[in-house]
Amino acid sequence: MEIQRYKTYDEISKASAQVGAEIVNNKPNAVLGLATGSTPLGLYKEMARMHKEDGLDFSHVKTFNLDEYVGLSPDHPQSYHYFMHENLFKHINIEPQNVHVPSGTTKNYQAFCKWYEERIEECGGIDLQVLGIGSDGHIAFNEPGSSLGSRTRIKTLSKQTIDDNARFFEKTEDVPIYAITMGVGTVMEARNLILLAEGESKAPAIADAIESPVSSMCTASILQLHPFSTFFLDEKAAGNLKMTEYYKWIQAKKPGAPSSC
Ligand code: GLP
Repeated sequence: MEIQRYKTYDEISKASAQVGAEIVNNKPNAVLGLATGSTPLGLYKEMARMHKEDGLDFSHVKTFNLDEYVGLSPDHPQSYHYFMHENLFKHINIEPQNVHVPSGTTKNYQAFCKWYEERIEECGGIDLQVLGIGSDGHIAFNEPGSSLGSRTRIKTLSKQTIDDNARFFEKTEDVPIYAITMGVGTVMEARNLILLAEGESKAPAIADAIESPVSSMCTASILQLHPFSTFFLDEKAAGNLKMTEYYKWIQAKKPGAPSSC
């Protein structure tokens, strides 16, 4: 687990986009796991810029999104389908058939969840999974109490998540109560995980995820068990961490480490 602290949101976005670009440049048919929410917006903007200006090529890339609200159709402005199209897919050269976002309107959720898991496997697994974090410590929509071995399924959103996400809807009652989400176990099978967080509202969840014992009460804490997980944090999101000096030391010394480490 690696903790990278940055001064600004812009720096988080650029540094995380660099990780994505390296993976895509090294493996043109890479499989990317994508997240929604306001936090990865800067990362997607930077990826779109890299496509336009540096020729970053997504023509063979496949993507899998973490989650979708139950009941929202792909053309609903608050659906995650719509979000991804508006903020990333329409700005890059990705093939529509290579894009996967869980369905919020399928007639058979159980069958869809099974298919989604199988499709990830069929595509060779996820090379890089992008994550945000909820203020209750969730990753994707794996709310507190989610099994740490869970797979893609329906989850009931916590009241805190509904309140947090109400800012995107006209009123709180419009926020869907259920979501379809990759499980914690699904996320953990990705070969690399990056979790982005900014702002002081995320500071308690980030401290729980990094410095408290692994617990289903904060599903982001599972990143402690992943061999290649990195947190990209601004100073406010990192504000409740106790080992700050240690993380700064490690970050500063990393460039000098032998490259095989
Ligand atoms: C939603 C998404 C999560 C995301 C979280 C935080 O709940 N399901 O994947 O991490 O929002 O969003 P934001 O980045 O807007 O704080």
